[in-house]
Amino acid sequence: MAAPLGVSASPAAGSKQHGAAPPGLAGRARDAVVFAAGVAAAAAMLALLGSASVLELAPWSGIPRVAVSAPGPDDGPRTFYDDPELSYDAVGGRRLAGWDAKRVAWLRSRGFARASPERVVMVSGSQPEPCPGAAGDHLLLRFLKNKLDYCRLHGIELLYNRDVLQPAMTGAWAKIPIVRAAMLAHPEAEWVWWVDSDAVLTDMDFSLPLAARYAGRNFVAYGWTDKIARRSWLAINAGVFLIRNCQWSLDFMDEWARMGPAYPEHARWGEVVRAALSDKGDDAWCDDQSALVYLLLVSSNRERLGKKAFIETEYFFQGYWVDVVGRLDGVAARYEAVERGAPPGLGLRRRHAEREQPRYAAARNAAVGGGAVPGPAGGGVEGWRRPLITHFVGCQPCSGGRNPMYSRESCDDGMRRALGFADDQVLRAYGFRHAAPLNDTMLLVPFDYPAAAPARNE
Ligand SMILES: *[C@@H]1O[C@H](CO)[C@@H](O)[C@H](O)[C@H]1NC(C)=O
Repeated sequence: MAAPLGVSASPAAGSKQHGAAPPGLAGRARDAVVFAAGVAAAAAMLALLGSASVLELAPWSGIPRVAVSAPGPDDGPRTFYDDPELSYDAVGGRRLAGWDAKRVAWLRSRGFARASPERVVMVSGSQPEPCPGAAGDHLLLRFLKNKLDYCRLHGIELLYNRDVLQPAMTGAWAKIPIVRAAMLAHPEAEWVWWVDSDAVLTDMDFSLPLAARYAGRNFVAYGWTDKIARRSWLAINAGVFLIRNCQWSLDFMDEWARMGPAYPEHARWGEVVRAALSDKGDDAWCDDQSALVYLLLVSSNRERLGKKAFIETEYFFQGYWVDVVGRLDGVAARYEAVERGAPPGLGLRRRHAEREQPRYAAARNAAVGGGAVPGPAGGGVEGWRRPLITHFVGCQPCSGGRNPMYSRESCDDGMRRALGFADDQVLRAYGFRHAAPLNDTMLLVPFDYPAAAPARNE
C-alpha cells in the first residue's frame, strides 16, 4: 500500500537515535482497549506542574527570558478569551475557527513576536477515583514522578488531569477533550505532547527532534511499518502523540472525536473500521486507536491528513515494554562502559548542576555514537540506545487488571525496572543511584563515577 503519510521507515543514517521497534506481539491491540477503559478515563486539569511561567516564552536552553506583566481583567487588550462564544467543549459547542490567527493575536497582545517553536506542554492523566489495584496509586505516583523529572530536565510544562471533562468520551477517548483544552489554555505552546499515564520516559537525555524531524508536521505518533502495510489496528499507537497547537490539529481532533462514543455515528464507525482494518476480529467497538489508524491509513482524507501527520518508526518515541524491559540492564551497562572509558577531557564523569543536563546529554550522546558501542544503535531488539518511552500497555498499573497474556511478575518487575532505570539517570546529578535495578538501597556515587565504584551510604 502506498501510504501517503510520512512514515520514517528507512533507518536513515545520522538521524537514528533509538531502536526501531520490531513488530510486537499480536494481541497488544486488545490490551490497548483494556488499558483504555481502565486508565485513560483521563480528566480535568488538576495541576500545572512546571518550572517556567506562562509568559516566559524563550526556549528553555539558556536564552534570556522575557517577562511582561500580565494585564488584569480590565486593562489588557481583548483576545479570543473575551469571546463569549468560545467553547472549550470537544463535543458540543461552536467549532473553533481561525485559531492560528487568534494565537498570533494573543501572543502579540502580550508582547511576543511569535511562540517558541520548541515550547511543549506535556499532558497526561488518570482516573478520578482511587486505584482499585494493590499499590495502584503508588505506581501512578511513580509514573507521574517520572514525567515530572523528564519535564523539569527539559523545560517542559506538565499538565496532569484526573477529571472526566466529557462524560461521553469514555475510555482512551477521554484524552481528546483535555488535549484540546490544553491547546486553548496554552496559546504560548507550540506543541502538546500526550503521554499515557502508564508510559515511562526511559531516556532522560533525549530531547524531541522537533525542528530536525517534525518541522512542517502537525501530528506525530509511533508506528510499525509491517502493521501499517497490512492495516492492522495496532499499526499506530495512540497512547503517545505530539500535536501542534494549530487549527489543523483542532480540526483533526474534531474529525477523530466524531468517530467516538459521544457521537451517534459511533456504532456505525465501529462496523466501518472493523471491516477496513485487518485484525479487529468481531470487535465492533470503535476504539480511539482504531479510529486513528483508520483516519490516517484508510479514510478518503488520508492523503490530506498524511501531509501533516508523521509516523515515527526509527526510535522508541513509544516502545512496547515487552520489547524493551529485558534489555534495560544491558543498555545501562553500555552507557556506563562508555562513560568509564571516556577521556577525562570529555567531561562525562564531571559532576554538574542539573540545569546543565542538556549539555552533558549532548556530550554523552556524541560519545555513545560514532562506534563507541559495538552493534547497531537502533534496530529494535538489537539496539542498545535507551528507549525514549517504555509503554506498559496491558499492565494496568492502576486497576491491577492486567491482560492475562502477561504474568504479574513480568508487569511488576518491568515497571519497577523501567522506573528505576529512569530514576538512576536523574539521581546521578544528586550524587546517588540504586544498588541494583530492583533494589531500592541507595549507593553514593563517588567522584569520577563510574571510573570509581559506587559505595553503600552507611
Ligand atoms: C540491595 O543492595 C544492597 C547493597 O548492595 C545489599 O546489601 C542488599 O542485600 C540488596 N538487597 C537485595 C534484596 O538484594
